[in-house]
Amino acid sequence: MTNRPPAEIGMPLEKVDTPALLVDLDALERNLRCMADAVAGTGLKLRPHAKTHKSPVIGLLQMAHGAVGVCCQKVSEAEAMVLGGVPDVYVSNEIVGAPKLARLAALARQARVATCVDDPVHVRGLSEAAQAFGVELRVLVEIDVGANRCGVAPGAPAAALARQVAEAPGLRFGGLQAYQGASQHLRGHAERREAIQAAVAKVLETKEALERAGIPCECVTGAGTGTFTFERDSGVYNELQAGSYIFMDSDYGKNLDADGQPVRTFEHSLFVYATVMSRPTPERVILDAGLKALSVDSGMPVVDGMPDVVYARASDEHGRLELSDPKRPLALGDKLRLIPGHCDPTVNMYDWYVGVRNGRVEALWPITARGALL
Ligand SMILES: Cc1ncc(COP(=O)(O)O)c(C=O)c1O
Repeated sequence: MTNRPPAEIGMPLEKVDTPALLVDLDALERNLRCMADAVAGTGLKLRPHAKTHKSPVIGLLQMAHGAVGVCCQKVSEAEAMVLGGVPDVYVSNEIVGAPKLARLAALARQARVATCVDDPVHVRGLSEAAQAFGVELRVLVEIDVGANRCGVAPGAPAAALARQVAEAPGLRFGGLQAYQGASQHLRGHAERREAIQAAVAKVLETKEALERAGIPCECVTGAGTGTFTFERDSGVYNELQAGSYIFMDSDYGKNLDADGQPVRTFEHSLFVYATVMSRPTPERVILDAGLKALSVDSGMPVVDGMPDVVYARASDEHGRLELSDPKRPLALGDKLRLIPGHCDPTVNMYDWYVGVRNGRVEALWPITARGALL
C-alpha cells in the first residue's frame, strides 16, 4: 500500500485530490445504528462481512455497534482484521492448501477463529493444521441453500460431513454456513422472500438430519444486505453476515420493497470523488475516475445529486458523463461524488478511506486488507 494519505485532517472536501474514496461519516454511523436496531432484541448475533470494507477500523466500529466479530473471505483478510485489533474472525469460505491452513491455525493463537468446509479434504487439512499449532478450530459445514456456489448438499450428506468434523482432532463442529448469495440482488421483495424460504427449508432438513445423528447445531449463519430481514425472522438462523449495508452501492439501491419502492433502509455512505478533466463538447464531460477508480461489474456509478447526468462509459482512467442539458454548468476542475455500482471491489482499489463530515475531512482510515487475496 502507499503510505501517503490522500488528504489531511481538517481539509475542506473541495481540496481533496481525486480520485479518492470518500465515506460520509454521518451516513455510515446511521447505517451502523440502523443495523444494530434491526438486530436488537432478536437474540441473533451480528457478524458483518468485512470483505466489504477490508478495514479493521470499520470492523471495530461494527463491534462497538453490537457485532460479535466479523466474517472474512480470505485468510489474509482475517490476518489484517486480527492485526488491527478485531478479536473474533470467521472465514466464511473453504480453505485449501498447506500455507493458508497453517496461517489460519496460527491466527487461532491470537484470536477466536472459525471457518467452514464442504468436503472431507477440508476437514483433514484443518485438523492437521490445528494439531500442528495446538489449537482448536471452530468449523462449520457449508450447505448449498440455492446459490450453486460452494456447499455440500443439505440433509444427510451435510450431517455426515458434520460427523467427520466433530470427530476430527483439533476441530469443533460449530454449526451450518447457509448463505444464499444468489438471492441478494433479486429486485422483487417476494422473489427474495421466496428464495430465503427455500433456503430455510434446506437448513431445517439439515438440522433434522443433525438431530437424528445426535450432533448438536449451535449456529446457523448466513444472510446479506438484500435478505437479512427474512433470515432474521426465520426462527432458524441465529447469526447474520450482511456486509454491504454499511456503504450501500447503487446496485443494492435498485432492490424493491414490498410496495415496489426502492429499499431505503440504509443510505449511500461510500463515494468516489472525481474531477472534471475535460469537456470536449457541451454534452460530454470527462472525469478522472474510470475502471481503475471504480468497479463497474454491477453497473455504472450514479452521479450523486445529479439525476440528469449519466455516467455512460468507463475506460481505464476516464469516465464519460452524458449531459441532457448542454448548458448545465460543469467546468474543468469541478468535483463530484459518484455512488459506485458495487462497493466491495471498488474499496479494493484504494489504500485509504477519506472520512468526511460537514464538508471537512475528519478521518483517514487505511484499508489494510486491500488486495488480500491469499
Ligand atoms: C458468505 C457471504 N456472507 C455474507 C456476504 C455479505 O453480503 P452483502 O455484502 O451483500 O451484504 C457475502 C457477500 O457476497 C458472502 O459471500
